[in-house]
Amino acid sequence: MSNWIDRSKKVLMNTYSRFPITLNEGAGVYAKDDHGRDYLDFLAGIAVNALGHAHPALSKAISEQAQKMMHCSNLYHIPQQTELAEKLVKHSNFDKVFFCNSGTEAIESALKLARKWGNRHKKGATKIIAMEHSFHGRTIGALSLTGQEKYQKPFQPLMPKVEFVPFNDIGALSGAVDEDTCAVILEPVQGEGGIFPARQKYLQEARRICSETDTLLLFDEVQCGLGRTGTLFAHQYYEVEPDAVALAKGLGGGFPIGALLAKERVAVFEPGDHASTFGGNPMASAAACALITELTDGNVVKHSREVGAYLHEKLSSLATVNPRIKEIRGVNLMIGIQLDRDAGPYVDKCHKAGLLVGKAGPDVLRLVPPLIIEKEHVDAAVDILTEVLGE
Ligand SMILES: Cc1ncc(COP(=O)(O)O)c(C=O)c1O
Repeated sequence: MSNWIDRSKKVLMNTYSRFPITLNEGAGVYAKDDHGRDYLDFLAGIAVNALGHAHPALSKAISEQAQKMMHCSNLYHIPQQTELAEKLVKHSNFDKVFFCNSGTEAIESALKLARKWGNRHKKGATKIIAMEHSFHGRTIGALSLTGQEKYQKPFQPLMPKVEFVPFNDIGALSGAVDEDTCAVILEPVQGEGGIFPARQKYLQEARRICSETDTLLLFDEVQCGLGRTGTLFAHQYYEVEPDAVALAKGLGGGFPIGALLAKERVAVFEPGDHASTFGGNPMASAAACALITELTDGNVVKHSREVGAYLHEKLSSLATVNPRIKEIRGVNLMIGIQLDRDAGPYVDKCHKAGLLVGKAGPDVLRLVPPLIIEKEHVDAAVDILTEVLGE
């Protein structure tokens, strides 16, 4: 029998503290390990597998496309990419789309767009304001916007002209935006930083400040977008419109793809400014088209609202009787359970009990299940959490 754990430690760079679990199969809300054990998957590849594992519509779209054409090049027109952009534009108030392969690349695209826009339309303004405790990705640009010292420190010096302000603090934001600021970037629901939702009033005020100072408002919906908040886009949940939004994670339902959606006046890229060899290739676009169709026509987003409300209700009841739980935070199916201690051992205990969950910050359990979970899955997950957190 293959010992994947020892084999991978020998040959893979030491970038991840992996759990001693090897997953290689899944169906719906369950992932199976190499010993045939099923896990209820409430992490969903960290908010990626929006439709769970091996969803028939997604598998069909990918396998059919693989038999037709996997890749050509953005030197040519790609029907699947155009169809995907049409769908994203139709379901939002954005006009133009750029495709890439990951969240960090979507953020890089947003950064470059903001810098070019500032140079061209705001007298060379180049400063970017980002949030404390944010997470935007691992490339140098995205890392420069990530307001967490532990991620930044080993890689300094990073990109200049980034200023951090406390999240949800409108006074700090209004004090920081000036004539040299081209953009403000934030996650409507902070993910990696500990699952902190923005207040609606904060986002409304951020919109007002940005509009009044001719500054771009950029939303990173890489984790909180695409149905997780119970609306297709997180900004629709908040009813606040940014000038551009970065997407990835759930967009391909497991197939790698990222996107930057922008208003026409902001979409200042010209040929030669920015590109991606694989960005929006036929495979990734076919997968994402199937995903968006399921989320919208297939009523998955609506379903997620019902089951999300049920999950919050159950967790809130648990919090009232379990003193280890300090707070339940989040929106719909993006949930943080703030504990009064390190969450790490409880992630392990959940795994042992057959439930996959994650961590966000040192003391927060992160639940970002597939949007297709049913109430019975919620009951099963909350039973495990009740047992584990009661130990
Ligand atoms: C909000 C947010 N932005 C950006 C990223 C980076 O995405 P990727 O890992 O696909 O580069 C992440 C990843 O966790 C994220 O949560």
